[in-house]
Amino acid sequence: GLDITKLRSQTGCITYDPGYMNTGPCKSAITFVDGEQGILRYRGYPIDQIASRGSFTETAWLLIFGELPTREQLSRFSAGLCAEELLHEDLRHHFEGFPPGGHPMAMLSAVVNSMGCYHPDLLEIESKGEFYLAASKIISKVRTIAAFSYRKSMGLPFMYPNPALSYCRNFLHMMFSIPHKHYDPSPEAVRALSLFLTLHADHEQNCSTSTVRMVGSSQANLFASVSAGICALWGRLHGGANAGVMEMLEQISEGKRTPREVLELAKQKKFRLMGFGHRIYKSYDPRAVILKQAAHDLLTKLGKLDRLMDIAMELEALALADPYFAERKLYPNVDFYSGLILRALNIPMQMFPVMFAIGRMPGWIAHWYEEHQQHGSKIHRPRQIFTGQVLRDYVPFDER
Ligand code: ACO
Repeated sequence: GLDITKLRSQTGCITYDPGYMNTGPCKSAITFVDGEQGILRYRGYPIDQIASRGSFTETAWLLIFGELPTREQLSRFSAGLCAEELLHEDLRHHFEGFPPGGHPMAMLSAVVNSMGCYHPDLLEIESKGEFYLAASKIISKVRTIAAFSYRKSMGLPFMYPNPALSYCRNFLHMMFSIPHKHYDPSPEAVRALSLFLTLHADHEQNCSTSTVRMVGSSQANLFASVSAGICALWGRLHGGANAGVMEMLEQISEGKRTPREVLELAKQKKFRLMGFGHRIYKSYDPRAVILKQAAHDLLTKLGKLDRLMDIAMELEALALADPYFAERKLYPNVDFYSGLILRALNIPMQMFPVMFAIGRMPGWIAHWYEEHQQHGSKIHRPRQIFTGQVLRDYVPFDER
């Protein structure tokens, strides 16, 4: 009920809210989060129901279009994704410009942004049909671009997509097949990847999604806006956190630190216990519950023993029993166990944020569209508390 704009013009006051801890820049009907109770719902559907019964492409449709797809809608959507999976040859040539060993996340954001050059007709979205087309192109091609980014970073030849394969199986094929040897992952591996992507598909106004909405609020096109989201995701406190978890677990595994020493250093604020704590969740992140079980199940089914899984569980138990973490309501977040799944799938660590970006793409697209549809919505333009010199006279060089 409080009209902030009116209040500001009357009093000259602005809200000082570093980190936007208590600022809601938009209204949204996409994802519901109750951080105190550990509840997450996509378009009203509980995350555990979606995770156990849905697929990633079904989730993408739900987030983007607002309803669960019918069989026909999903099959048309999947066929559309197959039709869009190839890159324009000139877009493929972009990869030649990147140096060997270049980070795949840099390639991903650059090439996704460049898609705008190849689809000038979709820079302005004027109808639902155009939006559908642009969304399908991005959801499909981001997987090809991600796999090509990996192959380029490893100096490996590109493996072209195979339209006969499902979304996740096709991605693993582009990642790991070699000429004359088709990579054939187990159904459990494919299911685990679909689950990983599904659980990352949206999480309301996180840093990258807010970035997408902010960029989109200037009426920037969808390709540019989601590319900005990829850049925001790259940071260690966001999409880079699960790689941080794995590094931490590896240090313990290599005997460089014990779990207790890691906790002590985190409590002394020498570093953050990666994969712990969340701006919104003040209880166990519901995605972490599912991923912990999924990591355990996948390792068992693949017959892989991973010492890092045992270390993660030990670290978690120690942290949860420690008053420092209890007082601050710090619990495992989505990143604590997700890296173990990626590791079991042979995905290298530098690809971890890229995997997150593929998963988050439906959420970014849905939020961009919601922003786009909110006619009269304002350009995002926060204020600041100015702390510099208010007025000075210019000083010529000789007098400085
Ligand atoms: N390890 C140790 N202490 C922590 C941690 C942590 N992981 N997270 C928060 N704290 C402490 C802070 O030092 C602070 O303590 P203080 O009150 O004594 O100063 C208190 O808990 C509150 O922390 P804030 O930084 O204010 O919490 P904020 O909401 O700003 O940060 C964040 C949330 C960034 C996720 C933080 O918990 C963190 O850095 N976690 C580790 C990185 C991580 O796992 N990121 C992934 C997040 S999920 C995602 O992006 C998909």
